[in-house]
Amino acid sequence: MRASSRSIAFTAALSAAGLFSGSCAAHEMAPQDADVVVIGAGIGGLAAALEASDGGARVVVVDANSVGGGHAVLASGFSFVGTPLQEKNGFRDDPELAIRDIMAWGEDADEYWVRRYVEASRTEVHDWLRAKGVEFAMILPNAEDSVPRFHLTRGGAVNAVLPMLREALSRDSITFVWNREATRLLRDTRGIAGVVTRDLRTGRSLTLRAPAVVLATGGFESNDEMVRAHWPAGRAIPDPLYVGSGEFATGSGLGLATAAGAALTRMDRQLVYVTGLPNPRDPSGRRGLLVLNPAAIMVDDHGRRFVNESAPSKVIESLVMARSPPAYWLLFDAAGRSQLMIRGGPWLNSQTIAAEIMDNPRLVKRADSIGALAVATGLPADALVSTVERYNGFVVRGSDEDFGRFGPGVSGGAVPSLTEPPFYAIRLYPMTRKSMGGIVIDHDARALDRDRRPITGLYAAGEVTGIAGINGSHGGSGTFLGPSLLIGRIAGRTAAAQIALTQERRQDAPATALLPDAPPAPADTRTLASRIRQEAPGFWHFTQAHRLVVERQEQCATCHSAAWPPGPAIGRAQRLAQLESCKRCH
Ligand SMILES: Cc1cc2nc3c(=O)[nH]c(=O)nc-3n(C[C@H](O)[C@H](O)[C@H](O)COP(=O)(O)OP(=O)(O)OC[C@H]3O[C@@H](n4cnc5c(N)ncnc54)[C@H](O)[C@@H]3O)c2cc1C
Ligand code: HEC
Ligand code: HEC
Repeated sequence: MRASSRSIAFTAALSAAGLFSGSCAAHEMAPQDADVVVIGAGIGGLAAALEASDGGARVVVVDANSVGGGHAVLASGFSFVGTPLQEKNGFRDDPELAIRDIMAWGEDADEYWVRRYVEASRTEVHDWLRAKGVEFAMILPNAEDSVPRFHLTRGGAVNAVLPMLREALSRDSITFVWNREATRLLRDTRGIAGVVTRDLRTGRSLTLRAPAVVLATGGFESNDEMVRAHWPAGRAIPDPLYVGSGEFATGSGLGLATAAGAALTRMDRQLVYVTGLPNPRDPSGRRGLLVLNPAAIMVDDHGRRFVNESAPSKVIESLVMARSPPAYWLLFDAAGRSQLMIRGGPWLNSQTIAAEIMDNPRLVKRADSIGALAVATGLPADALVSTVERYNGFVVRGSDEDFGRFGPGVSGGAVPSLTEPPFYAIRLYPMTRKSMGGIVIDHDARALDRDRRPITGLYAAGEVTGIAGINGSHGGSGTFLGPSLLIGRIAGRTAAAQIALTQERRQDAPATALLPDAPPAPADTRTLASRIRQEAPGFWHFTQAHRLVVERQEQCATCHSAAWPPGPAIGRAQRLAQLESCKRCH
């Protein structure tokens, strides 16, 4: 039977069963079906797609964004155990030690997945990425690791996902559909039967039929309602609470999964950073930037220090979150200014940081004396002056008598005093970041229902599973990307194996006959300027990127070429050419 007539018959059957209401005029059928549909082109989804394709499956990857990579594009490194780079640096690691470290840090981590990741991180993640040309530049120590394990990707973790995207785009067995949000999973008597998607640009819906669907839609930390609904019981929700996660981290995959009967777990394990500064470029006022300064002290609303500022992040997070209000001031002087780090968008560079943040009196208070800084911040002057004097005295004597930040027996470098005007104070707030709970999966990355039975044809990987609980209640450094990739590979492998077992393999052409992306966008510079003011649905990334293009006065030809003229990338070759531009911003 031809795929198209099967699809129609199949849709009719679903409609009859009341599972599918696809008869509206805006609905179109895909002329071809796939073996595996992967929802989400982040690191988890890309790993699943590549692995399923290795297993012989024809894969369609659907993403709501117009470009791939997900959060990894903004991330930096991976936690690996037992790599050549560790060895070269003289760091002798051992799986049992790593398992103990991760279990201790997370406090209630899923031991199976911790062990599985630790044992596979070198071979199935590190070596797999190395074989694709990914390089790791150096290893940073972290509080949770008794041996340094945080491997910084050379040039950022974007350089880990770009080769994955490149490889996926080069394979005939993998097809991408962009700007399409998965809105519903289809089920039949055997299990999952496909997914309904909606084109964000045109509103048109498209049904993709497949006996296996991998959910890799990421976390829910940008969905204020879900964040609040799953806030840990008995704890106050901070106000304000900024968003430090991506535009598409809306948790929509969790809704799809639960509607298909999947169970969720650990939903209240949310990694909230306490280093959030309101993003001055965000018109909604909801989004935060990440601010750190190892040369600073932290003071509360009484003008007093309250923590060892060099303590592990989870200690500081717990302490700040338990305070009322859960906000504080980061104080540093002119010398400490050079150690200030602000992260959270490709628009941040030394000029924009100076002009839009450091010179913005709403965000940063600056004064020539601590007394004047107290006036600017509204903090009690006597208390603030005596806090800084006391701290400076500790620095001179080489011992922090109040919080043990430095002193005899404490490791770590010298800490500067706050003596050189001007003095700065930045108020920082909690900011959502990463989900550590989500869809319950088994050891083969199959999604489980409320009775802990696998839902036939449904798989999940990455942050939508809460990274399978490997972070417990406290997110570690680098323990999101690597496990997302590993679980993605497992999901893709299982899905392909199931297809091979349960379905007669179709020998017809690869699933490339999907509908064209969307109507072409106007390509000239003049309309570009007006277009990026509009923020049309489905053009989020285009708008973000070209605002920067306009601001930096870049020539279109810097990124666009004869192989990909200024316009939508249609087809594989143009998508591949497009990947050459990503590093200009990321
Ligand atoms: C700023 C930042 C820095 C980080 N740094 C690190 C780090 O250094 N090390 C580390 O280990 N971890 C880090 N993390 C966490 C890590 O990046 C993520 O946990 C990981 O990348 C998640 O991968 P994923 O594939 O599961 O999801 P994502 O990367 O979130 O990808 C999900 C994809 O699904 C798409 N999608 C969502 N819903 C739908 C839908 N309904 N239909 C179609 N598509 C949909 C999205 O557009 C997106 O492309 C960081 C996170 C952030 C936010
Ligand atoms: C720094 C690199 C860069 C420069 C410079 C640049 N672009 Fe782009 N352009 C991109 C990227 C990346 C995309 C894909 C963005 C997306 O789909 O989210 C894109 C996509 C587009 C699209 C397609 C939008 C769609 O419908 O999907 C148009 C139109 C476009 N660019 C026009 C221009 C014009 C006109 C210029 C010059 C004024 C320009 N671009 C300069 C990187 C660049
Ligand atoms: C001209 C600059 C520019 C170029 C070129 C560009 N981007 Fe972006 N990208 C941005 C900006 C700005 C954002 C928004 C970041 C933010 O939320 O602050 C962004 C966000 C993203 C996100 C969302 C990250 C998340 O956490 O959800 C992804 C994924 C992404 N870009 C991928 C790409 C890829 C892949 C390419 C190359 C094809 C590319 N980008 C090229 C500027 C650019």
